[in-house]
Amino acid sequence: MALPVLAVELPPPGRLESEARVPAETVEVVEPHASSPGHELRISYRGFGMTGLLTRLFGERWKIPGTEVVFFSRDGYRSGVDSGRFLAGSAWLAVSRADGRPFTVDNPSQHESGVALGPYYLIWDNLHDPAARAQGAYGWPYQVVRIDLATPADYAAARPQEADTAATEGFKHARKYCLTCHRVAGIGGEKFPADLREISRPLSDQALQSWIIEPQKMRPGTSMPPLDALLPEAERYRTADAIVRYLRTRPATDFTRP
Ligand code: HEC
Repeated sequence: MALPVLAVELPPPGRLESEARVPAETVEVVEPHASSPGHELRISYRGFGMTGLLTRLFGERWKIPGTEVVFFSRDGYRSGVDSGRFLAGSAWLAVSRADGRPFTVDNPSQHESGVALGPYYLIWDNLHDPAARAQGAYGWPYQVVRIDLATPADYAAARPQEADTAATEGFKHARKYCLTCHRVAGIGGEKFPADLREISRPLSDQALQSWIIEPQKMRPGTSMPPLDALLPEAERYRTADAIVRYLRTRPATDFTRP
């Protein structure tokens, strides 16, 4: 299994502030979990600037091109962000709301209210950056307890072995949309130990596509979310097809060897 280069279990926010000597700042954002097109809810949070924090935690190595900063949530959810995004944009690890109200969020699209955000919640300046706003809630993990650095080598075994453009595209999408919860060749979320390529094998292409597009139809009441509802319909299907192509590629032969 690919081991992370470095992993940091985050201490409680009060200790992080005193030990890492990074000051908390107040930041206003468009809260993507509670906003929908045409309805924007702005919330101010208190948080630590990510570039300063990453340097305190990892030194300069997080800036090496190709490095991925990986946020693990309490339940094993995994959110990987290319480190270049932290250099280009502004992000904070939030620890509370600035107005002193409970550090929770409502998520009407998932029919959830009062979802706990702590101990840490990754937020982005999407108020001044329309591209960041268009990302919705992708890259905003909450209940973060650990930060890892991953390198391209950590993904080597999960990469498609055949030179197939659709599969390569699908791998990119699977990293964003599936490996948050599922694993392939030892890398991914820690919610499920089973390999996503393995559990996909008994399913037809059509069934696999339905799992991606409308999991509720495959298993009513499932907690698996449908693929990015912000994407135009045709692009959702193209993305799902590419992910299916990727999941049908051979596993890397060297994965099980030491
Ligand atoms: C937020 C977490 C989450 C994400 C993201 C996610 N899944 Fe799932 N997935 C689940 C859960 C939970 C189940 C178990 C379904 C159940 O039993 O209710 C599941 C089940 C499945 C199954 C069915 C396995 C079986 O039991 O036969 C497939 C196939 C699957 N996921 C594929 C995918 C693919 C492909 C993606 C990316 C497009 C994806 N999942 C993204 C959480 C997730």
